[in-house]
Amino acid sequence: MYLTKEEEEMLKGSMGYAVEKSMEILVTLGEIYGAENMVPVSNVHMPGSSVVVAGDAGSAFVEEIASTGVKFKTYTTLNPAAVDFERWVEIGIPSEYFQKQKKLSLAYHSMGGILCHTCTPYLTGNLPRSGEHVSWGESSAVSFVNSVLGARTNREGGPSALASAITGRTPMYGLHLGENRKGKLLVRVSTRLGTVTDYGSLGYYVGTICGGNNPVFTGIPTDVSSDQLKMLGAALASSGSVALYHVERVTPEARSLDEAFKGEKPSEILDFGEEELRGASEDLSKAKICEVDVVCIGCPHNSIYEIRSIAELLRSRKIRSDVRFWICAASSVKSLSDRMGYTEIVEGAGGTFMCDTCPVLAPVKEISRRDNLNILATNSAKLAHYGIGQCNLHPHYGELERCVLAATTGRWV
Ligand code: F3S
Repeated sequence: MYLTKEEEEMLKGSMGYAVEKSMEILVTLGEIYGAENMVPVSNVHMPGSSVVVAGDAGSAFVEEIASTGVKFKTYTTLNPAAVDFERWVEIGIPSEYFQKQKKLSLAYHSMGGILCHTCTPYLTGNLPRSGEHVSWGESSAVSFVNSVLGARTNREGGPSALASAITGRTPMYGLHLGENRKGKLLVRVSTRLGTVTDYGSLGYYVGTICGGNNPVFTGIPTDVSSDQLKMLGAALASSGSVALYHVERVTPEARSLDEAFKGEKPSEILDFGEEELRGASEDLSKAKICEVDVVCIGCPHNSIYEIRSIAELLRSRKIRSDVRFWICAASSVKSLSDRMGYTEIVEGAGGTFMCDTCPVLAPVKEISRRDNLNILATNSAKLAHYGIGQCNLHPHYGELERCVLAATTGRWV
């Protein structure tokens, strides 16, 4: 693998232990995937920022690297943590997680990490332009940055993203190369998609079939919102391992089908109509009883527009005292919600903001066992998909209005 003089110096250890170890990780990765050289990255989004994911060993590794005094070379944002730093007691998160998370987050902070703790860093200022090489982890964020923004990243894990933040490099392979960004599979959408939930169902259905191949969608209206695309990508990345999709006449590398496929023919054609939409939704609804214990909206983290919709639905309504209603968002988005008066409506109705974290990256499995919580209602295909395995919660899956009704009546109808 070709290394520049500076990269060779990094590998030799002339710039310190942390830089040397980081370059070792990246060279090993590059050799495994046949990269010919490194490419500079302008920014990093760090997965493994939650102690639930990093575990004790992963957290100790990050803290050891931070203790060398190394500073990140790139702008680096952090994925959700294991706790909401302000409301962890109210949410019921055991204090040991708060203590461990504080230590890990401070270690990232000392290296220059931005403590936004969100899976939607593009809503909080990490907004790369089309064609920019970046190094991002967190599957839904990777999907958004590749597909909707047109920047280039592979799906990074914690160690490789940390190594990129420290060196400002990543090996040039996979989705950094134009030839790997072309569409493989054509998805013809023939039904009308209205809500973010419909887009989640579409993503879930296609993800189960296409695996890691880049799907190209046709038949999606050109006024599709970024929240709908956010949900589409999150679902594609959870039931499949899709890191890049194209939407004809919407996403930057698909001004036409011909451009999306780079002049080639699709290897497979899928049709998505009324029947597939209904089937995907039924497939994601695994709960067998109507009583609901938890309602969660905001996987991926809510935008301010989504919070406004929740507040509008909750105006003059009350959430049942035996139902937990969690609204996940970046803390900076919640600050805006405070200013707009949405927080007052949501909290006045009995809802709880869950910032800096989410049910999958917080120790919700532990909370649901301890508090005997069994049934979840959500409008997120990703959260419904992971509900049982990651949270020990059986999901009802449906639109926001239905979820809010479940929160106020305690029943899924
Ligand atoms: Fe984000 Fe957590 Fe969902 S990281 S995409 S809210 S599982």
